Amino acid sequence: MELLASGARRLDAVEQDERLDRPVGVVRAAVNRALSRPVKDALHGRWLGHPLHPALTDVAVGAWVGSAVLDRIPGQERAATTLVGVGLAGAVPAVWSGFADWSEADPEQERLGLWHAAVQAAGNALYLASLVARLRGRQRAGRALGAAGLAAVTVGAYLGGHLAYRSGVGMNHADPAWRRLPRGWQVVDELTNLPQGKPVRRAIGDVPVLVYRGPRQVHVLVEECVHLAGPLSDGEVTVRDDEVCVVCPWHGSTYRLRDGAVRRGPAVMPQPVLKVRIVNDRVEARR
Ligand code: FES
Repeated sequence: MELLASGARRLDAVEQDERLDRPVGVVRAAVNRALSRPVKDALHGRWLGHPLHPALTDVAVGAWVGSAVLDRIPGQERAATTLVGVGLAGAVPAVWSGFADWSEADPEQERLGLWHAAVQAAGNALYLASLVARLRGRQRAGRALGAAGLAAVTVGAYLGGHLAYRSGVGMNHADPAWRRLPRGWQVVDELTNLPQGKPVRRAIGDVPVLVYRGPRQVHVLVEECVHLAGPLSDGEVTVRDDEVCVVCPWHGSTYRLRDGAVRRGPAVMPQPVLKVRIVNDRVEARR
Protein backbone atom coordinates (compact mmCIF):
# COMPACT_ATOMS: atom_id res chain seq x y z
CA MET A 1 0.00 0.00 0.00
CA GLU A 2 2.83 2.37 0.89
CA LEU A 3 4.33 1.69 -2.54
CA LEU A 4 1.11 2.82 -4.24
CA ALA A 5 0.83 5.87 -1.99
CA SER A 6 4.41 6.91 -2.75
CA GLY A 7 3.71 6.34 -6.46
CA ALA A 8 0.76 8.73 -6.27
CA ARG A 9 2.97 11.32 -4.54
CA ARG A 10 5.54 10.99 -7.32
CA LEU A 11 2.81 11.68 -9.85
CA ASP A 12 1.85 14.78 -7.87
CA ALA A 13 5.49 15.88 -8.29
CA VAL A 14 5.29 15.29 -12.05
CA GLU A 15 2.31 17.63 -12.14
CA GLN A 16 4.51 20.37 -10.66
CA ASP A 17 7.41 19.80 -13.10
CA GLU A 18 7.49 22.99 -15.18
CA ARG A 19 10.19 21.57 -17.49
CA LEU A 20 7.35 19.71 -19.19
CA ASP A 21 5.65 22.94 -20.21
CA ARG A 22 7.64 23.34 -23.42
CA PRO A 23 6.77 19.91 -24.91
CA VAL A 24 3.23 20.35 -23.60
CA GLY A 25 2.97 23.61 -25.55
CA VAL A 26 4.27 22.01 -28.76
CA VAL A 27 1.85 19.07 -28.57
CA ARG A 28 -1.08 21.26 -27.53
CA ALA A 29 -0.52 23.55 -30.53
CA ALA A 30 -0.47 20.53 -32.85
CA VAL A 31 -3.69 19.17 -31.31
CA ASN A 32 -5.39 22.55 -31.63
CA ARG A 33 -4.38 22.73 -35.29
CA ALA A 34 -5.67 19.22 -35.96
CA LEU A 35 -9.04 19.46 -34.16
CA SER A 36 -11.69 22.05 -34.98
CA ARG A 37 -14.06 23.23 -32.25
CA PRO A 38 -17.01 21.03 -33.32
CA VAL A 39 -14.75 17.98 -33.57
CA LYS A 40 -13.31 18.71 -30.13
CA ASP A 41 -16.79 19.01 -28.65
CA ALA A 42 -17.79 15.69 -30.21
CA LEU A 43 -14.63 14.05 -28.83
CA HIS A 44 -15.18 15.55 -25.37
CA GLY A 45 -18.63 13.91 -25.35
CA ARG A 46 -20.84 17.03 -25.31
CA TRP A 47 -23.42 15.14 -27.38
CA LEU A 48 -23.38 12.38 -24.75
CA GLY A 49 -23.53 14.59 -21.65
CA HIS A 50 -20.66 12.54 -20.28
CA PRO A 51 -16.90 12.36 -20.90
CA LEU A 52 -16.34 10.14 -23.94
CA HIS A 53 -12.69 9.20 -23.39
CA PRO A 54 -13.18 6.71 -20.49
CA ALA A 55 -15.87 4.84 -22.44
CA LEU A 56 -13.69 4.59 -25.55
CA THR A 57 -10.64 3.36 -23.66
CA ASP A 58 -12.72 0.45 -22.36
CA VAL A 59 -13.06 -0.86 -25.93
CA ALA A 60 -9.31 -1.07 -26.48
CA VAL A 61 -8.37 -2.29 -23.01
CA GLY A 62 -11.20 -4.83 -22.95
CA ALA A 63 -10.18 -6.28 -26.31
CA TRP A 64 -6.52 -6.47 -25.32
CA VAL A 65 -7.26 -8.16 -22.00
CA GLY A 66 -9.39 -10.64 -23.94
CA SER A 67 -6.52 -11.31 -26.35
CA ALA A 68 -4.17 -11.93 -23.40
CA VAL A 69 -6.58 -14.54 -22.02
CA LEU A 70 -6.93 -16.22 -25.43
CA ASP A 71 -3.13 -16.30 -25.74
CA ARG A 72 -3.18 -18.80 -22.87
CA ILE A 73 -5.65 -21.11 -24.61
CA PRO A 74 -4.26 -23.43 -27.32
CA GLY A 75 -5.86 -23.09 -30.75
CA GLN A 76 -7.19 -19.55 -30.17
CA GLU A 77 -4.48 -17.72 -32.14
CA ARG A 78 -6.89 -16.38 -34.72
CA ALA A 79 -9.37 -15.08 -32.14
CA ALA A 80 -6.55 -13.48 -30.14
CA THR A 81 -5.24 -11.78 -33.29
CA THR A 82 -8.73 -10.46 -34.03
CA LEU A 83 -9.00 -8.95 -30.56
CA VAL A 84 -5.60 -7.29 -30.88
CA GLY A 85 -6.88 -5.67 -34.09
CA VAL A 86 -10.18 -4.66 -32.45
CA GLY A 87 -8.22 -3.03 -29.63
CA LEU A 88 -6.09 -1.07 -32.08
CA ALA A 89 -9.19 0.09 -33.97
CA GLY A 90 -10.79 1.16 -30.68
CA ALA A 91 -7.63 2.97 -29.63
CA VAL A 92 -7.85 5.46 -32.52
CA PRO A 93 -10.93 7.41 -31.28
CA ALA A 94 -9.77 6.91 -27.68
CA VAL A 95 -6.45 8.61 -28.46
CA TRP A 96 -8.13 11.56 -30.16
CA SER A 97 -10.72 12.02 -27.41
CA GLY A 98 -7.90 11.91 -24.86
CA PHE A 99 -5.96 14.58 -26.73
CA ALA A 100 -9.09 16.75 -26.98
CA ASP A 101 -9.61 16.58 -23.19
CA TRP A 102 -5.92 17.06 -22.49
CA SER A 103 -5.62 20.15 -24.69
CA GLU A 104 -8.14 22.02 -22.51
CA ALA A 105 -6.95 20.98 -19.08
CA ASP A 106 -5.03 22.76 -16.32
CA PRO A 107 -1.22 23.02 -16.64
CA GLU A 108 -0.66 20.41 -13.89
CA GLN A 109 -3.02 17.99 -15.59
CA GLU A 110 -1.38 18.59 -18.96
CA ARG A 111 2.07 17.73 -17.57
CA LEU A 112 1.00 14.36 -16.20
CA GLY A 113 -1.30 13.88 -19.18
CA LEU A 114 1.73 14.07 -21.46
CA TRP A 115 3.23 11.09 -19.63
CA HIS A 116 -0.10 9.28 -19.83
CA ALA A 117 -0.14 9.84 -23.60
CA ALA A 118 3.49 8.75 -24.02
CA VAL A 119 2.99 5.50 -22.11
CA GLN A 120 -0.22 4.73 -24.00
CA ALA A 121 1.54 5.48 -27.28
CA ALA A 122 4.19 2.91 -26.34
CA GLY A 123 1.44 0.40 -25.53
CA ASN A 124 -0.30 1.04 -28.85
CA ALA A 125 3.00 0.67 -30.75
CA LEU A 126 3.67 -2.65 -29.02
CA TYR A 127 0.20 -3.91 -29.93
CA LEU A 128 0.68 -2.80 -33.53
CA ALA A 129 3.95 -4.75 -33.65
CA SER A 130 2.14 -7.68 -32.02
CA LEU A 131 -0.54 -7.62 -34.71
CA VAL A 132 2.04 -7.54 -37.50
CA ALA A 133 3.94 -10.45 -35.95
CA ARG A 134 0.77 -12.52 -35.54
CA LEU A 135 -0.34 -11.85 -39.12
CA ARG A 136 3.08 -13.05 -40.31
CA GLY A 137 2.63 -16.27 -38.37
CA ARG A 138 5.12 -15.39 -35.63
CA GLN A 139 2.75 -16.23 -32.80
CA ARG A 140 5.34 -16.45 -30.06
CA ALA A 141 6.68 -12.96 -30.84
CA GLY A 142 3.11 -11.68 -31.18
CA ARG A 143 2.21 -12.99 -27.73
CA ALA A 144 5.36 -11.50 -26.16
CA LEU A 145 4.74 -8.10 -27.76
CA GLY A 146 1.09 -8.26 -26.66
CA ALA A 147 2.13 -8.99 -23.06
CA ALA A 148 4.51 -6.01 -23.13
CA GLY A 149 1.76 -3.87 -24.65
CA LEU A 150 -0.68 -4.87 -21.91
CA ALA A 151 1.89 -3.96 -19.25
CA ALA A 152 2.38 -0.52 -20.82
CA VAL A 153 -1.36 0.05 -21.21
CA THR A 154 -1.91 -0.93 -17.56
CA VAL A 155 0.62 1.67 -16.42
CA GLY A 156 -1.04 4.20 -18.73
CA ALA A 157 -4.44 3.36 -17.25
CA TYR A 158 -3.02 3.94 -13.76
CA LEU A 159 -1.86 7.39 -14.85
CA GLY A 160 -5.28 8.02 -16.40
CA GLY A 161 -6.95 7.02 -13.14
CA HIS A 162 -4.74 9.46 -11.26
CA LEU A 163 -5.69 12.21 -13.71
CA ALA A 164 -9.40 11.52 -13.31
CA TYR A 165 -9.79 10.70 -9.63
CA ARG A 166 -6.94 12.62 -8.02
CA SER A 167 -6.52 15.56 -10.41
CA GLY A 168 -10.18 15.84 -11.39
CA VAL A 169 -10.06 15.60 -15.20
CA GLY A 170 -13.57 14.82 -16.45
CA MET A 171 -15.19 15.32 -13.03
CA ASN A 172 -18.22 17.54 -12.43
CA HIS A 173 -16.59 20.44 -10.57
CA ALA A 174 -19.88 22.24 -9.90
CA ASP A 175 -21.51 19.33 -8.15
CA PRO A 176 -19.85 19.72 -4.70
CA ALA A 177 -21.09 23.33 -4.54
CA TRP A 178 -24.57 22.27 -5.68
CA ARG A 179 -24.74 19.69 -2.90
CA ARG A 180 -23.67 22.26 -0.28
CA LEU A 181 -26.55 24.62 -1.13
CA PRO A 182 -28.94 25.00 1.81
CA ARG A 183 -32.43 23.53 1.32
CA GLY A 184 -35.46 25.72 0.64
CA TRP A 185 -35.75 29.26 -0.70
CA GLN A 186 -32.74 31.41 0.12
CA VAL A 187 -32.31 35.17 -0.22
CA VAL A 188 -29.77 36.10 -2.91
CA ASP A 189 -29.97 39.91 -2.89
CA GLU A 190 -32.29 42.87 -3.29
CA LEU A 191 -33.30 43.26 -6.94
CA THR A 192 -32.12 46.87 -6.94
CA ASN A 193 -28.62 45.75 -5.91
CA LEU A 194 -28.23 43.71 -9.11
CA PRO A 195 -26.91 45.54 -12.18
CA GLN A 196 -28.81 44.97 -15.44
CA GLY A 197 -27.01 42.88 -18.06
CA LYS A 198 -23.89 42.16 -16.03
CA PRO A 199 -22.99 38.90 -14.29
CA VAL A 200 -22.16 39.30 -10.60
CA ARG A 201 -21.08 36.96 -7.84
CA ARG A 202 -23.19 36.48 -4.73
CA ALA A 203 -23.29 33.73 -2.10
CA ILE A 204 -25.97 31.46 -0.71
CA GLY A 205 -24.61 30.25 2.60
CA ASP A 206 -20.98 29.52 1.74
CA VAL A 207 -21.76 28.65 -1.88
CA PRO A 208 -20.82 31.27 -4.49
CA VAL A 209 -23.40 31.76 -7.23
CA LEU A 210 -23.47 33.65 -10.50
CA VAL A 211 -26.40 36.08 -10.71
CA TYR A 212 -27.46 37.67 -13.97
CA ARG A 213 -30.29 40.17 -14.17
CA GLY A 214 -31.69 40.22 -17.68
CA PRO A 215 -34.46 42.43 -19.06
CA ARG A 216 -37.22 39.99 -18.06
CA GLN A 217 -35.64 37.44 -15.77
CA VAL A 218 -32.99 36.88 -13.12
CA HIS A 219 -30.79 33.79 -13.51
CA VAL A 220 -28.85 32.15 -10.70
CA LEU A 221 -26.28 29.43 -11.44
CA VAL A 222 -23.58 27.72 -9.42
CA GLU A 223 -20.50 29.93 -9.79
CA GLU A 224 -17.87 27.20 -10.25
CA CYS A 225 -17.73 25.92 -13.82
CA VAL A 226 -18.54 22.24 -14.31
CA HIS A 227 -15.36 21.77 -16.35
CA LEU A 228 -12.61 22.79 -13.92
CA ALA A 229 -14.29 25.19 -11.47
CA GLY A 230 -13.54 28.40 -13.36
CA PRO A 231 -15.28 31.55 -12.00
CA LEU A 232 -18.31 32.02 -14.24
CA SER A 233 -19.21 35.48 -12.91
CA ASP A 234 -15.89 36.70 -14.39
CA GLY A 235 -17.06 35.42 -17.77
CA GLU A 236 -18.82 37.21 -20.55
CA VAL A 237 -22.57 36.99 -21.13
CA THR A 238 -23.29 36.63 -24.81
CA VAL A 239 -26.09 35.68 -27.19
CA ARG A 240 -25.57 32.43 -29.06
CA ASP A 241 -28.25 31.16 -31.47
CA ASP A 242 -30.74 33.61 -29.89
CA GLU A 243 -30.00 32.22 -26.42
CA VAL A 244 -28.40 34.14 -23.58
CA CYS A 245 -25.28 32.28 -22.46
CA VAL A 246 -22.32 32.77 -20.15
CA VAL A 247 -18.81 31.97 -21.35
CA CYS A 248 -16.34 30.58 -18.80
CA PRO A 249 -13.20 32.74 -18.75
CA TRP A 250 -10.85 29.77 -18.35
CA HIS A 251 -11.48 27.46 -21.33
CA GLY A 252 -14.52 28.96 -23.02
CA SER A 253 -17.25 26.50 -22.02
CA THR A 254 -20.53 28.21 -22.85
CA TYR A 255 -23.71 27.57 -20.87
CA ARG A 256 -27.28 28.64 -21.60
CA LEU A 257 -28.37 30.75 -18.65
CA ARG A 258 -31.94 29.51 -18.45
CA ASP A 259 -31.08 25.84 -17.96
CA GLY A 260 -27.28 25.52 -17.90
CA ALA A 261 -27.18 23.51 -21.15
CA VAL A 262 -23.70 23.31 -22.68
CA ARG A 263 -23.54 25.20 -25.99
CA ARG A 264 -19.78 24.84 -26.40
CA GLY A 265 -17.23 22.60 -24.68
CA PRO A 266 -14.91 21.53 -23.22
CA ALA A 267 -17.62 21.04 -20.57
CA VAL A 268 -19.90 18.09 -21.31
CA MET A 269 -22.32 18.32 -18.39
CA PRO A 270 -24.81 21.14 -17.78
CA GLN A 271 -24.04 23.90 -15.30
CA PRO A 272 -26.42 23.65 -12.29
CA VAL A 273 -29.15 26.30 -12.38
CA LEU A 274 -31.24 27.34 -9.38
CA LYS A 275 -34.97 28.09 -9.39
CA VAL A 276 -35.58 31.82 -8.89
CA ARG A 277 -38.47 33.89 -7.56
CA ILE A 278 -38.81 37.54 -6.66
CA VAL A 279 -40.63 38.36 -3.43
CA ASN A 280 -41.10 42.01 -2.46
CA ASP A 281 -38.25 43.06 -4.77
CA ARG A 282 -35.98 40.50 -3.18
CA VAL A 283 -34.40 37.75 -5.30
CA GLU A 284 -34.66 34.28 -3.80
CA ALA A 285 -33.29 31.02 -5.18
CA ARG A 286 -33.37 27.33 -4.36
CA ARG A 287 -32.11 24.01 -5.69
S1 FES B 1 -13.08 25.84 -16.07
FE1 FES B 1 -12.68 25.12 -18.06
S2 FES B 1 -14.28 25.95 -19.22
FE2 FES B 1 -14.70 26.60 -17.23
